[in-house]
Amino acid sequence: MTMGMQCFLSREKSRFLLMLCILLVFFIEMTPTTASRSSSSSTQDLEVQTQLKLLNKPAVKSIKSPDGDIIDCIKITHQPSFDHPLLKNHTIQMTPNFHPEGIFAQNKVSSSRTITQLWHLNGRCPEGTIPVRRTKKDDLLRASSIKAFGKKKHITIPQPRSAAPDLISQSGHQHAIAYVDGDKYYGAKATINVWEPKIQQSNEFSLSQIWILGGSFGEDLNSIEAGWQVSPDLYGDNRTRLFTYWTSDAYQATGCYNLLCSGFIQINNEIAMGATIYPVSGYHGSQYDISLLMWKDPNEGNWWMQFGNDYVLGYWPAFLFSYLSDSASMIEWGGEVVNSESDGQHTSTQMGSGHFPKEGFGKASYFKNIQIVDGSNNLRVPKDIGTFTEQSNCYDVQIGKGGNWGSYFYYGGPGRSPDCP
Ligand SMILES: *[C@@H]1O[C@H](CO)[C@@H](O)[C@H](O)[C@H]1NC(C)=O
Ligand SMILES: *[C@@H]1O[C@H](CO)[C@@H](O)[C@H](O)[C@H]1NC(C)=O
Repeated sequence: MTMGMQCFLSREKSRFLLMLCILLVFFIEMTPTTASRSSSSSTQDLEVQTQLKLLNKPAVKSIKSPDGDIIDCIKITHQPSFDHPLLKNHTIQMTPNFHPEGIFAQNKVSSSRTITQLWHLNGRCPEGTIPVRRTKKDDLLRASSIKAFGKKKHITIPQPRSAAPDLISQSGHQHAIAYVDGDKYYGAKATINVWEPKIQQSNEFSLSQIWILGGSFGEDLNSIEAGWQVSPDLYGDNRTRLFTYWTSDAYQATGCYNLLCSGFIQINNEIAMGATIYPVSGYHGSQYDISLLMWKDPNEGNWWMQFGNDYVLGYWPAFLFSYLSDSASMIEWGGEVVNSESDGQHTSTQMGSGHFPKEGFGKASYFKNIQIVDGSNNLRVPKDIGTFTEQSNCYDVQIGKGGNWGSYFYYGGPGRSPDCP
């Protein structure tokens, strides 16, 4: 204030003094009082810029999706995985050495329709590139910290047999799943009905996925996951997106969603991880589903992933994992939501379609043609499928068997209701 007064007076004398005063005021205003805040915000700025540069590689072509995403077509050799020191000299495998076959592999007869991704409406990526959803500054700023972006916060795997209620209820994650364990598994497959469940608030999510698990539920749990999710914190909207996740230490230091860290090596130029799946199913309306297959190459040990019948998306190199470099010990299929109980009540975040299994086709969400890859590398219907849910009055699961659906289940629910207060 005093400086400003002096400047006003000085203006009568000369332009030069005025300029000097303005500069002086500027520095006095900027430096002493706001020093700590501006330096910490510029540290964050720098951190954000550094992270964005790491995640967003130079694009050959960029496609604006109707949902606001930008899909960058980046050279396949420029993908984030090759920042990993152990992948510096890696030769990309452009096709899997091995592909498991099974009874539903070429099942073209379907009661539901096939699906693509929304960004396809505005273009495609050329050969030799992969489509990568561009990470925006806002995406990073929504994360609890820039380092936490793209990672899970808690152990969220349901432990059906030795359920540890404390762990599960503390983190507020709820599941309705089918699972198999007690054997060695070399892959898993399912066709997953796709919906757009409502999320009550942005720090919650709702997903439907396959978990491939290796090791115990301790600190060295290995996990490969894929499916669809609605996650406002991760993506900034309420859309249903294709995702993958992996960790080799129970969500502590390693692993991430999609291509948000070094790990998954993508070879496909048509499907983008984290991109919106379109269209989604409607209650009493058209039903859409995606089929996902993940399997271990018996020779190289890499874990491959396929979307639909036609898209081999890429692989997780064997060296990322400890237990999973041999085999999986448990497979889970189903839904998960976060219940943050923000207003002291159960969340109204939906799982699946938001309707209970008993409503059946066209209303409840399903997984069908559930299969595992066995010790002789064949896809087969698993025996002894268990189910698990923490609160069946909120989200439930019901298995069935028969016809061209093979092993299937309906799952999900509305969350908060008179039965789930
Ligand atoms: C990659 O190749 C270079 C040159 O052959 C070698 O010096 C380096 O150790 C290799 N790095 C890895 C991680 O294998
Ligand atoms: C997502 O949905 C919630 C309500 O379910 C709404 O409050 C929020 O504004 C939506 N967010 C976006 C980004 O559309």
